[in-house]
Amino acid sequence: MKHFTAVTDVPDLTTSTPPDLTDWQLLSERGGVRCESARWAGRPVFAKTLVFDRPDSRARFEHEGRVAASVRHRLVVSPLRCFHDTLIYPFVPGVTLRERLDTGALGADEATEVAGGVLAAVAALHACGVTHQDLKPENVILAGGDATFAAVRVIDFGMSHSARLPLDIHQGTRMGTPHFMAPEQFLGVRGDPRSDLYSVGVLLFDCLAGAPPFEDAFGWLSGLNECRAPLPGPAELHDVLTRCLTRDRAQRPASAPALYADVSAAREAMGLEALPDLTAWAGECR
Ligand SMILES: Nc1ncnc2c1ncn2[C@@H]1O[C@H](COP(=O)(O)OP(=O)(O)OP(=O)(O)O)[C@@H](O)[C@H]1O
Ligand SMILES: [Mg+2]
Repeated sequence: MKHFTAVTDVPDLTTSTPPDLTDWQLLSERGGVRCESARWAGRPVFAKTLVFDRPDSRARFEHEGRVAASVRHRLVVSPLRCFHDTLIYPFVPGVTLRERLDTGALGADEATEVAGGVLAAVAALHACGVTHQDLKPENVILAGGDATFAAVRVIDFGMSHSARLPLDIHQGTRMGTPHFMAPEQFLGVRGDPRSDLYSVGVLLFDCLAGAPPFEDAFGWLSGLNECRAPLPGPAELHDVLTRCLTRDRAQRPASAPALYADVSAAREAMGLEALPDLTAWAGECR
């Protein structure tokens, strides 16, 4: 059985031994990748297995494993091991943010805690040269089901870009999810951290409103429709939302830590506790 190497040589992230999954249950199978819950090495895991071994799907699959393994952070779900055909992640019990929003919008306190948790993860990714490029409520798990900062887990590096990997695997192929994708991403720009900040802005909007800002996402992305839903939530959050959602990248917050500070300041202006000190939530690049 062949194996591949992680973005830097991290022996415990790669092995040629095939995964020995037990108690597996099929969760989904799409785009040539099967997702299962299972037990592995004595613990519950989430396994992604490549089922169509075509060169393009294999390249994307291995890229996803390498990028996800390249950052360690408490709020990012990285693989325990990357096998030739299977990526093994710790299983996170909980609900996706999408499932949570399907039961109703969040108040400003919960919405800004969740956005803060996502931004803490994003700041760690960006510090390692990784742009996620598919941030949306489907790709955020709330561990234990709570809409809190510390419950956030960012998943799914299937669209991500790493400045430390030579190949931009997604050039000219899959792009992202229209409602959450920045206009420049739609036009083919890859790897700009400000595209992730746009997506966090949409995510915060969606948390507060129960729906993303542009009903006609393709019309907005292609520049044919500027019609945005009214800004949701308290007025203290409107400046942050407006700046994240601007078409012009230069007008967005300059970085994930800058946006984190803005969200935290908006919380304080609303009489809520500031977000945790971001330096206590640093990640590690592998
Ligand atoms: N580590 C995990 N623990 C528990 N559930 C997970 C984990 N990772 C992913 N999931 C669940 O599986 C779903 C799909 O995973 P992921 O987003 O990584 O794959 P995907 O390529 O987007 O697949 P799909 O097209 O099926 O959404 C997630 O939306 C989430 O519900
Ligand atoms: Mg996903």
